[in-house]
Amino acid sequence: MLPRRKSQKEPPVSGLSALEAASEASDLRAKLKYHDILYHQKDAPEISDAEYDTLKKRLIDIETAFPELITPDSPTQTVGAKPLKEFAKVRHAVPMLSLSNSFSDEDVTDFVERVHKFLNIPAATAIEFLAEPKIDGLSCSLRYEKGKLVQAATRGDGEEGEDVTQNVRTIKTVPHALPKDAPDILEVRGEVYMTRADFQKLNQAQERAEEKIFANPRNGAAGSLRQLDSSITAKRPLRFFGYALGETSEPVSDTQDGIRKKLSQWGFEVPAPAKVLKSADDILKFHAQVYAQRPDIAYDLDGVVYKVNSLDYQKRLGFISRSPRWATAHKFPAEQAETVINKIIIQVGRTGTLTPVAELEPINVGGVMVSRATLHNEDEIGRKGVYEGARIIIQRAGDVIPQVVRVVNPNPKKLFRFPDKCPECGSKAVREEDEAATRCTGGLICPAQAVERLKHFVSRTAFDIEGLGDKIIKEFWDEKIIQTPGDIFRLEKHAGALKEREGWGELSVNNLLESVEKRRTIGLDRFIYALGIRQVGQATAKKLAAHYESLGNLLTQMKAAATPGSAAFQELDNIGDIGLSMAEDIVAFFAEKHNQEVIKDLRQELTIKDFARPKTVQSAVTGKTVVFTGKLSRMGREEAKAHAESLGCKVGSSVSKNTDYLIAGEDAGSKLKKAAELGVKVLSEDEWLEMVK
Ligand code: IVH
Repeated sequence: MLPRRKSQKEPPVSGLSALEAASEASDLRAKLKYHDILYHQKDAPEISDAEYDTLKKRLIDIETAFPELITPDSPTQTVGAKPLKEFAKVRHAVPMLSLSNSFSDEDVTDFVERVHKFLNIPAATAIEFLAEPKIDGLSCSLRYEKGKLVQAATRGDGEEGEDVTQNVRTIKTVPHALPKDAPDILEVRGEVYMTRADFQKLNQAQERAEEKIFANPRNGAAGSLRQLDSSITAKRPLRFFGYALGETSEPVSDTQDGIRKKLSQWGFEVPAPAKVLKSADDILKFHAQVYAQRPDIAYDLDGVVYKVNSLDYQKRLGFISRSPRWATAHKFPAEQAETVINKIIIQVGRTGTLTPVAELEPINVGGVMVSRATLHNEDEIGRKGVYEGARIIIQRAGDVIPQVVRVVNPNPKKLFRFPDKCPECGSKAVREEDEAATRCTGGLICPAQAVERLKHFVSRTAFDIEGLGDKIIKEFWDEKIIQTPGDIFRLEKHAGALKEREGWGELSVNNLLESVEKRRTIGLDRFIYALGIRQVGQATAKKLAAHYESLGNLLTQMKAAATPGSAAFQELDNIGDIGLSMAEDIVAFFAEKHNQEVIKDLRQELTIKDFARPKTVQSAVTGKTVVFTGKLSRMGREEAKAHAESLGCKVGSSVSKNTDYLIAGEDAGSKLKKAAELGVKVLSEDEWLEMVK
């Protein structure tokens, strides 16, 4: 510990000689650096914030009077720890999920109804909802152990985020220590954000320093939090709101509102205004009030979040795909503006879809500069009457790609003609019957498709290979360094040449190779998603992985499913909500020779992990196939299904000889008959609940 000088009156700066000033400044710098390390890295400050500020103010005063004394490493110029090379990854103990969206009053009444139905609570019996603003920032999880902030992580893909602990420690509204009554393990989930006023100031400062200007407060917050150099983050006016919990060693409350109150007692800011409400009508009134107040609220909101207040109900409601059934985000209406279409270009996607895009006279829409809008497809162009030179109204809502609402000065003679050739490879572009999309028939000879597939393959939600951005993928493709996904894992061959590239060097090449190496092992679901099969997003990829469990099995089954009408095809069609059209696309993908080669090649390079089933409780019914029928009295149908699944059951929709139990509620009909025919055991709801107790 540094000897602490008894507080004594410092002589005014104006009375210091140059020599005295130099000596005192160097003394102050050493002290501030010492306290910075204690505060930012060790989380063990020895002096109060006010004492620290006094020291710092004195140094600033001296440096202002004697600017020649400013050194680049002075704590007035930098704060915090050394820059990092890259962020470490953090696996979330409890996944960080997203929220389903509601856009209309009807979506909200449906949400409230769904909750009642799932819990089997009559509409006339009120359920409490906590409503609070949805903050437009970046979600972050703060982990406290024994009352000390030990880790902060971004959301990432929900399962794994980035370690931003050093940066979060520089945020003034994040408590570093919690009172004694906080649980030993406590993860606080919330939003890192910036007020609009602070954002304006930041941009002004950025402009003066000829640095990057941020499009909106959210981007400003994101750019500031994801800084490898925490001394930069420390200078940014970030704030934090707490609104949910991750892992906790003991329960904090039994309501969402109780959690809010606790968070607030423990020193966190919580989003306001918030209210506990008991009906869809009250919820909608609250939404209108917050919307009206929006301009007066100091930070950007993009809607109101409603959460079932009882944590017991939340637990019963559980999750569907990646969002809780117990919450929804009711978005505010989209912001609109008028501008001109300068040009219409055609983009070719990874599955060959030709997408028309309007290049616009840049315009500010609700705080974001917009210079492009999607026109979707040929029909949309016809419907909207879009042409080059048209004046249009565009709108954007949250992160959604800006859209053209309508043309202000229609002129059918100038209507944009959709091309019948792919602009990238010149192949014929065709539109299948019943389809909105026009597709390039060039397949593998179309460079645009190949490049887009590669971009998707390395993207954050797929292989997540850091350092292989869109621009580099395109360059590597043009230079034939990467032609197929497997080439990514053979980049080492090119290490020598890469180090000679302009703007590259030993360090960046090594970093790239390192990030490639880190991804040589991958989960089956991500692998399937990365393949870029038409219509197969993250949720479907996960379902396929969960169903087929290993890549070997998936490939065998897909081969079998290529026979029309086969049992394997039926099986695929029956998974979750896959359905016929998606099943056809999946089978077609695996039947294509080139795709088979790509997968074969990748298997040589990678370790593809079998699907790790989320832990289910081992129970007497694990592995059984059950079917529910009739009206259940103790749970809603969805809850009953989710409950059975959590016990390791497969839940079917029709009775077959594979069904182990038919659970029949009141007024069960034809399924009961079928079960009797096939000799399937029938249980009453009570018998079933008794069995799984
Ligand atoms: S509750 C299980 N409350 O919105 C998820 N989220 O679109 C619990 N967000 O990932 C989240 N304000 O980052 C909650 N008051 C609020 C929020 C909020 C903003 C973010 C959050 C979430 C995203 C979903």
